[in-house]
Amino acid sequence: MDLIPATAAFIEQKFADEGSGHDWAHIRRVWLMARRLAANSPAANAEITELGALLHDIADWKFHGGDYEAGPRAARGWLQSQHASEELITRVETIIREVSFKGLGVETPVSSLEAALVQDADRLDAIGAIGIARAFAYGGHKGRALHDPAVRPVVHESFASYQKNTAPTLNHFYEKLLHLKDRLQTPAARAVAEERHAYMEAFVARFLAEWEGQA
Ligand code: ADP
Ligand code: NI
Repeated sequence: MDLIPATAAFIEQKFADEGSGHDWAHIRRVWLMARRLAANSPAANAEITELGALLHDIADWKFHGGDYEAGPRAARGWLQSQHASEELITRVETIIREVSFKGLGVETPVSSLEAALVQDADRLDAIGAIGIARAFAYGGHKGRALHDPAVRPVVHESFASYQKNTAPTLNHFYEKLLHLKDRLQTPAARAVAEERHAYMEAFVARFLAEWEGQA
């Protein structure tokens, strides 16, 4: 049996009614983008990249009491059930461990090209038109204000402070989204990010002008 379509079907079914922003639609976009980036990166193993993308949010630490190993463990369980090789399982587990954004001041290095491509594809989904929509959907889900000029953006130097953050949604653009372009690891992803970043900058400028009744 083909592992990629089987994994896609498994994840689609698992995330069918997940409302927190980590839904099948997000995973599908990350999968498609990771596949596109892999196609533009000759040294990449496309199968490992696609499996890493499909499984990258399988058990997010945010919904598992901060347990960073929940994701790798769940991916291993699925891949073992499909009789995947130990080498493949280890490579996919490592990707899942390495993809998550942990705050602007926190380094998130990757140990393989495939992990870099999945991390980049995940980050590309947080910028551009989709990124803007996701940020406000997340803020609404958490009951946050759209914007409050009195609450200044901060650089989170630790993962703990990033996790505890309750600031208005517009701050998230300064604290994360507008920096993602410069945090990408691969040239293929940087090329995609250019237009998305410019679109987001124009959005923030216009938002602030409208906030003051100036546009
Ligand atoms: P990742 O997939 O990198 O772990 P997160 O789970 O941190 O991403 O975020 C999922 C989505 O929610 C992303 O689009 C992200 O930009 C958005 N998001 C995360 N934190 C905030 C926040 N404090 N305010 C607004 N949007 C947020
Ligand atoms: Ni993701």
